[in-house]
Amino acid sequence: MSGSLNPTALVRLLGAWNPGALPAYRELADVVRLLVMDGRIPLDVALPSERALAQTLGLSRTTVTAAYASLREQGFLTTGQGSRGRTCIPHRTGPVSAPGLAVPDGLLDLAYASLPAAGEVVHRAFADALTELPALLPGFGYDAVGVPALREAIADKYTAEGVPTTADQILVTSGAQHALNIVLRTLAGKQDKVLVDHPTYPNALDAIRAAGCRPLPVALPHVREGTSTAWDIDAMITVMNQQHPAMAYLVPDFHNPTGRIMPDLQRRQLVRAAVASGTVLVVDETLRALNPDGVRTSPLSAFSPAVVSIGSLSKSHWAGLRTGWIRADPALIVRFVATRTTMDLGGPVVEQLAAARLVRSFAEPLDARLGELRLNRESLMSLLAEHLPEWEVERPQGGLTVWCRLPTPCSTALTVLAPEFGIRLAAGPRFGVGGAFEHYLRVPYTLPPAQLESAVGALRAAQDKLDASPQLRRTLKTERPAAVA
Ligand SMILES: Cc1ncc(COP(=O)(O)O)c(C=O)c1O
Repeated sequence: MSGSLNPTALVRLLGAWNPGALPAYRELADVVRLLVMDGRIPLDVALPSERALAQTLGLSRTTVTAAYASLREQGFLTTGQGSRGRTCIPHRTGPVSAPGLAVPDGLLDLAYASLPAAGEVVHRAFADALTELPALLPGFGYDAVGVPALREAIADKYTAEGVPTTADQILVTSGAQHALNIVLRTLAGKQDKVLVDHPTYPNALDAIRAAGCRPLPVALPHVREGTSTAWDIDAMITVMNQQHPAMAYLVPDFHNPTGRIMPDLQRRQLVRAAVASGTVLVVDETLRALNPDGVRTSPLSAFSPAVVSIGSLSKSHWAGLRTGWIRADPALIVRFVATRTTMDLGGPVVEQLAAARLVRSFAEPLDARLGELRLNRESLMSLLAEHLPEWEVERPQGGLTVWCRLPTPCSTALTVLAPEFGIRLAAGPRFGVGGAFEHYLRVPYTLPPAQLESAVGALRAAQDKLDASPQLRRTLKTERPAAVA
């Protein structure tokens, strides 16, 4: 596309101009650059002439000239075409150096909350799986419900946790996200309501919307130091009784993003209310094994056979296994299999054989993994307290992430600025419905302490830049979609 942007259109995008603490030319250059990166100023359009823009903004022509020069220097404006340069993106996309920050090459990824493989354990499981493969090669290789050895291993794991389970209650899936899609397409029709924790896991919200359903958010209460109310069960009961959601998708085990765990008393109350109101409870246990403090709770399925549980090896072992499951009543499993075969005809066999070995010795990699997570969590908590004392940080009981309340609604603005400081973030509104959580940011503690230190330094620098420029905060209201996990 090519064309030109008139001064009035650009001024509308810039919003009311109030000088901040930065020199005006830098602020103007920053805002235009971020509007280009955000896609709100298209590529290959000519910006207004310096004179016209200066007049419309009520700034001096020297200020606009300096802003355009800075944009050219950074590669966001073409050169050599007189004063009316055209918007472009620089070829080199690495992080711009931030003074005083030891940021390694490439972006530190704080948008994903995931760990590398429990390498040796996973590798060995694959090597062993290959020795079992010949016995299965005479078969067709299609098994929409899952390889029996894995279904049995998963069922035995539930039984060992106090929830007697047989293999016909297990459907093996390609991860928890696949599992949720199968459940949604089986249990919830178009326009049906699905109760969700608010905030919740962004990809679950996307799956709910993609299934044509409407997420029905129930706020998690604000938890202060020393309080123990993790979920607002009364609010959930009211919503179930008044709005009759077809299902509820909850993450009671080290909730993503807050890291909370639901106590048994609340589990019992919740299940009783869901059964009474006819809402199917679907609980995502993907993070249940990431229990660094050894908190004891029962799986939600211990309280009623009507609960549908979703699990995965992605966080306990490795997301690259793409192996998860659904545990439900056998009659429901039959319906889930019918839905599954509209999407795919089964999972890859070697992965499932490896997964069966991993599930049989489930705890093997966890000691080391939890030790690292404890260290990372403490490190992140103290770095945040030291460098971002104005952020209110909820201490996670487990899982992989810290949910932070920011002093101003600037989560999207921080996220858009973040790559400039060498980090990638997922903005708070990704975790909510209707633009909520602009006041929040999820920060994972999956990186080792040295990298967390760089990451928090980068967050501080990005926050300082925003604090110095109310103009930037106002301009950056909408996040570009980004992959998160
Ligand atoms: C709560 C929750 N559910 C599901 C997933 C995705 O799991 P999988 O990789 O098994 O699809 C994640 C990943 O971050 C998650 O946090």
